[in-house]
Amino acid sequence: MDKLLIQGGTPLSGEIAISGAKNAALPILCASLLSSDPLRLTNVPRLKDISTMLRLLKQMGVKVADGGLDGLVLNSKGLDNPLAPYDMVKTMRAAILVLGPLLARHGEARVSLPGGCAIGARPVEQHIKGLQAMGAEIHVEHGYIHARARGKRGLEGARIVTDMVTVTGTENLMMAAVLAKGESIIENAAREPEVIDLANCLVSMGAQIAGAGTDTIRIQGVKRLHGATHAIMADRIETGTYLCAAAATGGKIRLTNTSAAYLDAVVDKLFDAGCELVTERDAITLQAPARLKAVSIRTAPYPAFPTDMQAQFMAINCVAEGSAVIRETIFENRFMHAVELIRLGANIRIDASNAMVTGVDHLDGATVMATDLRASASLVIAGLVAQGETVIERIYHLDRGYEAIEEKLGQLGARVSRLS
Ligand code: EPU
Repeated sequence: MDKLLIQGGTPLSGEIAISGAKNAALPILCASLLSSDPLRLTNVPRLKDISTMLRLLKQMGVKVADGGLDGLVLNSKGLDNPLAPYDMVKTMRAAILVLGPLLARHGEARVSLPGGCAIGARPVEQHIKGLQAMGAEIHVEHGYIHARARGKRGLEGARIVTDMVTVTGTENLMMAAVLAKGESIIENAAREPEVIDLANCLVSMGAQIAGAGTDTIRIQGVKRLHGATHAIMADRIETGTYLCAAAATGGKIRLTNTSAAYLDAVVDKLFDAGCELVTERDAITLQAPARLKAVSIRTAPYPAFPTDMQAQFMAINCVAEGSAVIRETIFENRFMHAVELIRLGANIRIDASNAMVTGVDHLDGATVMATDLRASASLVIAGLVAQGETVIERIYHLDRGYEAIEEKLGQLGARVSRLS
């Protein structure tokens, strides 16, 4: 298993380009199941989760061709196997996103239940409830969701109010509704920018969607969708992660191919921590202060502070001046990185969903273990700050969500290498 070796203590400096967003690309790849015409995508990040999703789509009968620089062309004309097996779903929960599109276009689907993961139980009953409201017959047997659209009429539009804000739940239901008969309304919908990017792609395929980005999405079902070309939005979490890495190391970096448009909550906290930020239409520059000030955060659905940036802010607070409280409200078990940060010398006390972090003068390099994607990112940030050598084990988690991380950090002057 690969490890990452970091020689800490160098302030990051320079410029890198941000990749396409993993969490936008994953549902958009699944949107290719909704049409028999080709879907051409650009700015697709090269990540483990993307190759897992492509493997899943291929075994269903989707043809995937290289579309040139960071591009792909997907053609699901020959779709003949509407199955998402356990071995793929267990490595990537986003595989649940094939359920809505398969049901809408193919009339049936068999998708493994994802089960729990390192950050929480993460059930999918809202996806199921919403599809049932659209007339799907669903039963769960032997760990699989068996779903069928009743009779020849397929899915029917429905008004769905989800019990909580769910990002992939909203995306699954939106994809099912675009081919359902009549109007669907999704209330309490996720407002995440990735939902908007998916809606934009679906609209360019001929879907009729209004309100994406608000908590009420209205969809008029259409008979069929056609091919389209779509550029995946920039990854706001990758952007935020590099901003935190520069902030923690006392550096100055410029990130291109991205923007602060969807990062208000994160940018505000970096300002509060004492950073200077200059935002351009498609770039952001951050200059760190001599020492960061501790900043408290509370995670919540967009537009509030993203849970996917919580671990990185815990890392920057570890070396900031003062104390901060970090409150996680989305996932019940998303503090696994805290115990690893403590191994580097951090002062963190966990009390249920609150973490109290008191900044220390310095961290000391050590061997630590990555437990999930964003936890890994926080360990990288801590390793970049720590004195001496940090070895991060199980970095396959990082490869799921950060394209070419050691190359990008290297471009910013960090001393990082991969040990096989
Ligand atoms: N939930 C339920 N029942 C459901 C659906 C969700 O109880 O049917 C709960 C979850 O357990 C959680 C909360 O609702 O407590 C919100 O979960 P959500 O469904 O929004 O999460 P998700 O769609 O599974 C996506 C991202 C995650 C990100 C969350 C929250 C993708 C592929 N994944 O997950 O990204 O943390 O939204 O913003 O879009 C990551 O990239 O590292 C990552 C984990």
